[in-house]
Amino acid sequence: MSTADTPDAQAWFDRWVDTYDGDRRVLIPCFDAFYGTAAEAAALDRSGPVRVLDLGAGTGLLASVLAQALPEAELVLLDEAPAMLERAAERLAPLGDRVTTVVADLRDPLPDGPFDVVASALAIHHLDDDGKSDLYRRAAEVLAPGGVLINAEQVAGPTPQLDVQFKARWREHCRALGASDDTLAAADARMAIDLPASVPDQLAMLDRAGLVDVACLFQSWRFAVIAGWKAT
Ligand SMILES: C[S@@+](CC[C@H](N)C(=O)[O-])C[C@H]1O[C@@H](n2cnc3c(N)ncnc32)[C@H](O)[C@@H]1O
Repeated sequence: MSTADTPDAQAWFDRWVDTYDGDRRVLIPCFDAFYGTAAEAAALDRSGPVRVLDLGAGTGLLASVLAQALPEAELVLLDEAPAMLERAAERLAPLGDRVTTVVADLRDPLPDGPFDVVASALAIHHLDDDGKSDLYRRAAEVLAPGGVLINAEQVAGPTPQLDVQFKARWREHCRALGASDDTLAAADARMAIDLPASVPDQLAMLDRAGLVDVACLFQSWRFAVIAGWKAT
């Protein structure tokens, strides 16, 4: 099921806006390394007033980490869920007019580039594989030469056996961090619409989008950070 097929697709994530941020550190057991690697990749050989596009920005968690790594950045946050984006605008209010929010679907035309960084966290797995490939291609198009596309993502195992392990390790690690039955049940409900792809499959998609130096920069079971650069 894709978000477009849900009865109330626009508000799918908005229903979790009040609990979303509080759950993150138990539901992403490798939280610091995961978001930290994305920020490191964004700021690699880059500083000053760069332009950043965050795809599926939600409440602005990734955007706030990117803003710390690139303190002069202009940030465009795109998401289909208006209440999530309102929370992001509150979170990033100290950045003033350097932050813009756009309510849109990831399948819609992207905001005009060029962007130095196009980043996303835990959102692109809501698209099917054709949608992912198409988004990576369109994201590569709006990148400036030398720009980087980063996806900090929930991924499928590369084999059915490993996929079972990815899910089992996640549940065990969340439990070890104190995740309650309610928290895991809400996460399971959110993940009912997920269509994750494996790291090798997504690296191939970044390759086909014409990016170079395509690599997986971090992985801990079902959490991975993949990236590729636009040639200069
Ligand atoms: C798990 S949240 C991640 C939010 C944020 N990037 C973070 O790291 O916390 C996924 C976000 O992707 C958005 N999303 C999912 N499918 C989308 C689509 N097709 N178009 C636009 N946004 C989408 C949801 O509304 C939600 O805010």
